[in-house]
Amino acid sequence: MDGHAPFLERVFSLDVREGSYVLEGIEGEIPDYVRGNYYLNGPARFVQGDLKYRHWLDGDGMVCSLQFGEKDVHLTNRYVRSRKFVDEAEAGQALYRTFGTAFDDDALIRGIALASPVNVSVYPFAGKLLAFGEQGLPYELDLVSLETLGEYTFGKRLNAISPFSAHPKFDSESGELFNFGIAFSSTQPMLNVYRFDAQANFIYRKRHALNSPCSIHDFALSKNYAVFYLSPYILDMGKLMGEGCTLMDALEWMPERGSRLLVLSRETGDEVATVEIGENYCLHLTQAFEDNDALILDVIELTEPVYDQYQVIPDLFSDVREARSVRLTVDVAKQSVRCRNELSYRMMCDFPAIDPRKTTQRCDDFWVLGISQSRKPGRKFLDQLVHLNWNDTHDIYQAPANHYLGGEPVFVGGPEEKDGAIICQMLDAENLKSFFVIFDAFDVAKGPVATLPLHSPIHLGFHACFEIT
Ligand SMILES: [Fe+2]
Repeated sequence: MDGHAPFLERVFSLDVREGSYVLEGIEGEIPDYVRGNYYLNGPARFVQGDLKYRHWLDGDGMVCSLQFGEKDVHLTNRYVRSRKFVDEAEAGQALYRTFGTAFDDDALIRGIALASPVNVSVYPFAGKLLAFGEQGLPYELDLVSLETLGEYTFGKRLNAISPFSAHPKFDSESGELFNFGIAFSSTQPMLNVYRFDAQANFIYRKRHALNSPCSIHDFALSKNYAVFYLSPYILDMGKLMGEGCTLMDALEWMPERGSRLLVLSRETGDEVATVEIGENYCLHLTQAFEDNDALILDVIELTEPVYDQYQVIPDLFSDVREARSVRLTVDVAKQSVRCRNELSYRMMCDFPAIDPRKTTQRCDDFWVLGISQSRKPGRKFLDQLVHLNWNDTHDIYQAPANHYLGGEPVFVGGPEEKDGAIICQMLDAENLKSFFVIFDAFDVAKGPVATLPLHSPIHLGFHACFEIT
């Protein structure tokens, strides 16, 4: 059953130790502009007593930081002490139903919601470090020790039932934070959109009625707009509240209902346009920017949702075929797509990232993690770092056999326009050795310019970011 990902079962049965230490044995050279703090979140624990989680989204979140100083690199990693984590630690066993795992007498919060494992992303904001899960309040962590300080309510503007996603967006000029959350309901599902200033002061919360309770994971910001790619991946709330039904089981793909873009004014949060865009699925958007009167939206499109490919651990991505990097040129006034471009790299890929200094501006370079064995049946995993450009060039780093990549490829900008480094993770699954790897962002094919070995193996994470100090 190894398919194209031998030893992947070892990646998902790691007993990841918390730690804080200076990295030793660094090979190569870390570019001198890589100075600051890297943060990564992801699911790290998939076994609790006799219970083995089935789905990649089920694991408890662990945040990892790398502090890049003048003389050394310091790693810290700690589990987020979420309500789920604390309650289950006290009980000595799993208590809560998760995204893809149900068990006898499992609990839901208020009988309707999952207890978040807080395992998707982590961002510094307004002098604080916030760890996010798919829904619910973020948790504040100590910036250095990563100790969990508690749920963060934005000055009590949010509460335990506020829907709040794991993909906040930051305006690199104003420092504002925008985010969204879906209030799932079979009768009146709502998209909630939030705006906070750089000091975390509340500016607005706007609600938009949705045609159906669809799953939305991400969105994009341009200078004037917030853009949502609404795919008809629909949650059956009644089913979820039943015995033994996971969120995964309660989601249904209904492509016949079509996908659409919802374009909102950033200034007011009000709707500006709705644009029909076919019947594909989008998990992550790469960026949005404006060019004269057009809104340009770069996304990773799939022909169907990918969450069912995150199970059953360790047989991930068994049936994935391809992904398409798509650039949509949208006429907002006419509520139509003027032009659609696709890149020729079509391996399954995810975690698109750009130079964060260019958020809301045109950025023709971006980076993804890809799966080299896409289209072949059987287990596989992320094993390529790919630099793509909208001139349709690509540059690929292929990980060695039995090595897998993780962590959104984070771009750290250098002093010149075409200087930059990419940081991501690599795990030698056969020998259980973890590394952070740093690449020349514009020549990833030549391999890492620096390899940073860890004392003990850690999980492969989801989203990451870098704070230059
Ligand atoms: Fe994500």
